[in-house]
Amino acid sequence: MNWNFQEIQERVEEETQGILSAQDLEAFRIKYLGRKGMIQEIFASLAGLPDEQKPLVGKGANELRSRITAVIEKKKTEIREKENQARHPLMDITLPGVAPLAGHRHILTQTIDEICGVFERLGFTVQEGPEIETEFNNFTALNIAVDHPSRDAFDTFYLDKPDPKNKGRYLLLRSHTSPAQIRIMQKHKPPLAVVVPGRVYRPDAVDASHSFMFHQVEGLLVDRHVKFSDLKGLLTVFCKRLFGDKIKMRFRPHFFPFTEPSAEVDISCYICDGKGWLVHSPSAKMSLPRDPKGSKGCSVCGRKGWLEIMGCGMVHPHVFEAAGYPQNRYTGLAFGLGVERIAMLKYGVQDIRIFFENDVRFLEQF
Ligand code: DAH
Repeated sequence: MNWNFQEIQERVEEETQGILSAQDLEAFRIKYLGRKGMIQEIFASLAGLPDEQKPLVGKGANELRSRITAVIEKKKTEIREKENQARHPLMDITLPGVAPLAGHRHILTQTIDEICGVFERLGFTVQEGPEIETEFNNFTALNIAVDHPSRDAFDTFYLDKPDPKNKGRYLLLRSHTSPAQIRIMQKHKPPLAVVVPGRVYRPDAVDASHSFMFHQVEGLLVDRHVKFSDLKGLLTVFCKRLFGDKIKMRFRPHFFPFTEPSAEVDISCYICDGKGWLVHSPSAKMSLPRDPKGSKGCSVCGRKGWLEIMGCGMVHPHVFEAAGYPQNRYTGLAFGLGVERIAMLKYGVQDIRIFFENDVRFLEQF
């Protein structure tokens, strides 16, 4: 038999056009590649051909087989896509898309960044200290003696890990950011000005204003001739930048073992404007400060008119000594503030627990 491959090829192409379904394709496959299909037939006929024709016909049959295989693969994909489209009609790309849920920084992170930002613009650098501390850094170096009563409120979560540098002593979760002062002074010589944000841990029962974990920002500035007036000036600028120019401030004498003298800083309550009482004005739909007749006490400051926002003081000489600084060469100022407390005051949040509950309805408001 004589095989005209060109003609066969043309016929194959023509038939390909007519393949519209999976059944058509299967019939086509059987016709050419099946056990009794044309390719088999061609190979079977080889035996009866003169020797010189055999290689030509064999080659033609092989080529034809690969072309048909390729056509079948191509058609298979086409048919599958057509079926898919029929099942899922084309999407309408003009419809508005689904807006992705974009997150943002947590309100406490925003507050930390804001606090540190104010100090950075005043020339401070931001550093961090570890949450796992030694007893030495957390207490002893900060002039808090083992039997000092102020240690009680601070005595904290001890780890099951001995302090590698201090036999018989254990590591603990720091109860304030102040130990970072020691680390920084051990590493750097004055002049230095740093703020240290971070988490701290205390064995406090959880309620609306207490949490066993919260955040602080510590500040330390050491140089020759740093004075208490520098501390007052610095913190006044800070409070005005954070709470607005209108607020008043006062420095109240206080005790901290690691500073001498020490003070607590109060700002005038921005809700009652430092008056301690409020009067309700229905027309203004808000509480306005007025005279005490018919007024009610301000709940934000508890009628005091003042809000305590941080502790501060001049670095105690014992702290310099513990950090390895020479005696009488430097003076320094230090301060520490609670981030949650600042955020609660600034945004009128009433319960500290809500910061840590990860409720998006709360978090997305900021
Ligand atoms: N570490 C103190 C605390 O947690 C806060 C503090 C007070 C830090 C006075 C200071 C400071 O640096 O000078 O209560």
